[in-house]
Amino acid sequence: MKTAHLPAPPLPRGRPNLVVTGFMGTGKTSGGRYASRLLGLPFVDLDGVIAARAGTPVADIFATRGEAAFRDMERQAVADAARVSGAVVATGGGAVLDAGGFARLAEGAAVAVLTCDPEEILGRVGDRGGRPLLDEDPAASVRALLAERLAAYERAGPALDTTGLDVAGVGAALAARYRAVADHTATVRVTVDGPAGAYPVVVGEALAVAGTEVRGALPGAHMALVLVDRSVDESLGERVAASLASEDLLVERFPLPPGEAAKSIDVASHLWTTFVALGVDRTSVVVGVGGGACLDVAGFVAATFARGIPLVNVPTTLLAMADASLGGKTAIDHGGSKNSVGAFHHPSLVLADPSALDSVPVRDLRAGLAEIVKMAATASPLVLDMLEEAPLDDRGLPSDLGWLVEQAVRMKASYVAEDPGDLGLRHTLNLGHTVAHGIEASTDHAVSHGEAVAIGLVAESRYGESLGVTPAGTAARLEALLRRVGLPVDAPPGLDTADVLARMGSDKKRRGGRAVVVVPAPGGAEMIEDADVDAVLSFLRMGVAT
Ligand SMILES: NC(=O)c1ccc[n+]([C@@H]2O[C@H](COP(=O)([O-])OP(=O)(O)OC[C@H]3O[C@@H](n4cnc5c(N)ncnc54)[C@H](O)[C@@H]3O)[C@@H](O)[C@H]2O)c1
Repeated sequence: MKTAHLPAPPLPRGRPNLVVTGFMGTGKTSGGRYASRLLGLPFVDLDGVIAARAGTPVADIFATRGEAAFRDMERQAVADAARVSGAVVATGGGAVLDAGGFARLAEGAAVAVLTCDPEEILGRVGDRGGRPLLDEDPAASVRALLAERLAAYERAGPALDTTGLDVAGVGAALAARYRAVADHTATVRVTVDGPAGAYPVVVGEALAVAGTEVRGALPGAHMALVLVDRSVDESLGERVAASLASEDLLVERFPLPPGEAAKSIDVASHLWTTFVALGVDRTSVVVGVGGGACLDVAGFVAATFARGIPLVNVPTTLLAMADASLGGKTAIDHGGSKNSVGAFHHPSLVLADPSALDSVPVRDLRAGLAEIVKMAATASPLVLDMLEEAPLDDRGLPSDLGWLVEQAVRMKASYVAEDPGDLGLRHTLNLGHTVAHGIEASTDHAVSHGEAVAIGLVAESRYGESLGVTPAGTAARLEALLRRVGLPVDAPPGLDTADVLARMGSDKKRRGGRAVVVVPAPGGAEMIEDADVDAVLSFLRMGVAT
């Protein structure tokens, strides 16, 4: 077997976390959860994550596997938490004992080390409440442990005394600590290190400030060519155009056919012709407003006209915010082949405003979620843990899509920065895609790309497990999570796997007769360069006709 490890790259910064630690019984979990509600940030309790990952309560892990095994799991959970942003993270009381790991989590975060009068701690944890480190004499153990850990807590960060405070009081004090270092409502600027320099992805209320952002990124621009998906022209296109005009940019608006129909040589040719007539030159900027399809053609036209003019992307679908708007890949479809003609051309700026998602159909939102789950599986495992617990809205989708966009942008940006030309590490993003391409083509796109990615992700993870490369249980977890957000994980009933196999053969990622398949692996992904396609497909489970 020929394989290459694809490690998870370092992530660019997002909004700071609020990290809450301290001794047991000081209110880390209840106060942290309360603060998260005040701040509108997601909450994660690392002891809860460890228990969920182990499938058994923390006390059981101590009892059956021992403290050292628990500390290993805790070290991993703390490292994973250091990769998320804009969240309230409560750690277990012993997390500070690994000073190096905790310092990485605390870096750039608002940190609160909760303290409390030992008598009050005893009152709160008096019955031991499943706490593994308290023996038959809780009072003595609390005092001994406090003394033992005092130095580690002092080193970990600034203290917050919770003596006499109720949960609301602890939560309010924590929220105040966060607000002192960060504005939780602020838009976040994630930096993408592109090959021609860094550019920002603005995540938040970006539509209203499109004009000032474009002016700031491209001070010399005089004309803005707004290429907008016709289905969002009246709503979002008009808003962006008005904001650009308010900055004295000459605005020309071009509504394009909705979705994939825009990615044609005819559309590109019409735009080139009009650009010539308008006297477009490199002091103009193409502003793409739409989903991935619209941005692909906008980027392609920007890349090719006058040997390349500046590009700004305003993604309006979840998939486009999370994936297609950054990274420099542009393309049109040609000769019956998707993305067959294209160029690399990075934007100067991306404006990702989650409010644009309000009108996106649920099925398209799910498609974006499939790509986010795929990236998290290799680049930020705690996002998966958090998605497993995330509150769902009445459509059955995670209610805080803005937070997810922030995480997705950071993950995608990390792969782009490490591998701008898509020659190595960025192949990680093909996880699930070998099978997905076959299913999409074989069903003539009745199974959408996002749905096919969800099915492929599970099948390829099962394949990875069968090779001993993907940790056991990964596929089952992904399956449950994808189902939770309404994505399919089984192939449609009656799918012709021989046809899928044939279609996978035309996947351009296939090399030398055997397929390249990416599977999740500890610390990132593993690229199986000579995967047996029959074996991969044997892990595809067929749905049952209803
Ligand atoms: N360049 C890249 O790196 C990259 C990465 C991934 C995917 N892609 C490409 O992206 C495309 C898929 O992107 P997509 O999923 O965004 O699909 P899409 O652009 O086709 O949009 C999906 C549908 O949503 C509509 N729409 C867009 N914004 C809307 C809004 N705010 N409200 C209501 N409807 C809205 C569109 O008209 C379309 O019907 C494919 O062509 C794919 O090849 C490119």
